[in-house]
Amino acid sequence: MNVGGEHYRTVWMEGTAVYMINQNKLPFRFEILKSENHWETCMAITDMAVRGAGALGVAAGFAMAQAFLLSTGKNKLVLIREARQDIESTRPTARNLFYAVERVYMAGLNSPEQALAEALKIAEEDASSSQKIGETGAELIGKKANILTHCNAGWLAFTDYGTALSPVYTAKNQGKDVFVYVDETRPRSQGGRLTAWELENEMVPHVVIADNTAASLMAGKKVDMVIVGADRIAANGDTANKIGTLGLAVLAKEFGIPFYVAAPLSTFDISISSGKDIVIEERSGNEVMYQSGADINGNIVKIRVNNPGSKAYNPAFDVTPAKYITAIITEKGIIKPGSVSIKRVFENY
Ligand code: MRU
Repeated sequence: MNVGGEHYRTVWMEGTAVYMINQNKLPFRFEILKSENHWETCMAITDMAVRGAGALGVAAGFAMAQAFLLSTGKNKLVLIREARQDIESTRPTARNLFYAVERVYMAGLNSPEQALAEALKIAEEDASSSQKIGETGAELIGKKANILTHCNAGWLAFTDYGTALSPVYTAKNQGKDVFVYVDETRPRSQGGRLTAWELENEMVPHVVIADNTAASLMAGKKVDMVIVGADRIAANGDTANKIGTLGLAVLAKEFGIPFYVAAPLSTFDISISSGKDIVIEERSGNEVMYQSGADINGNIVKIRVNNPGSKAYNPAFDVTPAKYITAIITEKGIIKPGSVSIKRVFENY
């Protein structure tokens, strides 16, 4: 995607360094973060400078490659195994992170160069699957459509294009009249901050809505379809995505609105039969108790927005049962959620 006329990927590697758009600074500042080794990349993942299933996978793959490229001495393999544990303990929910680490680790056992080649290949696959998801998903979008999306599953959440937003970008480029309602203004406002910034950058008409607004919009027939991303999809189609997704899916069913999940096959975890086995990350209550933003001088500040004496509970994701999902848009086409159809796709993968 282009920012200020220059093409950027969300995360990339040059030599042994990993570079990423620092998503904690957006939309207030566009800054690139450089990480010299796998510890710094792990820190960037934990701090959420890089986030979103695909981007997490690519960053984690790069971190694993850094460990292979930079570890020396006769304890090299021990250090690399420790690095793998460090990377895998950064964030628990997104499947792509574990998928990428496994692939790069296995390749790295042959040589550090192969680790790097595999990590770069994963980044390419991430971008190309996102692009294909855009082409396939755009076929579901009519000539004029109001689309609701939750959180950020745009190009910032992948290396390029994104998943939930990729069909929107393709549809707009095809001349369709698309309008987006942007959701997830709490707990972290990844919709209001990241998705809105992306859509403005791509000149897609949109409004940011408070999360509580979706029901009345749907009741008023203002939403034609919902498209969200996914962090992990179980073998039966149950889908973990940003907290609040489940509520939207239930509402969509009630109001007869198609509810689509857009995700690459690297987000599927067919080793688990249902969403019950998905580990849900619980994040610091500070996300709920504080809000960060920019003051009038553009400085990024944090303010307390809830009662100081109270504790907060902050699960970052919820699981939407497959029965609420109309279809899953993947790089291999549209899949009806359910064990049989998902299994069939993976048999030919
Ligand atoms: O708060 P985040 O950034 O950790 O939110 C998680 C996500 O990025 C999503 O759930 C997103 O919708 C799917 S990831 C492509």
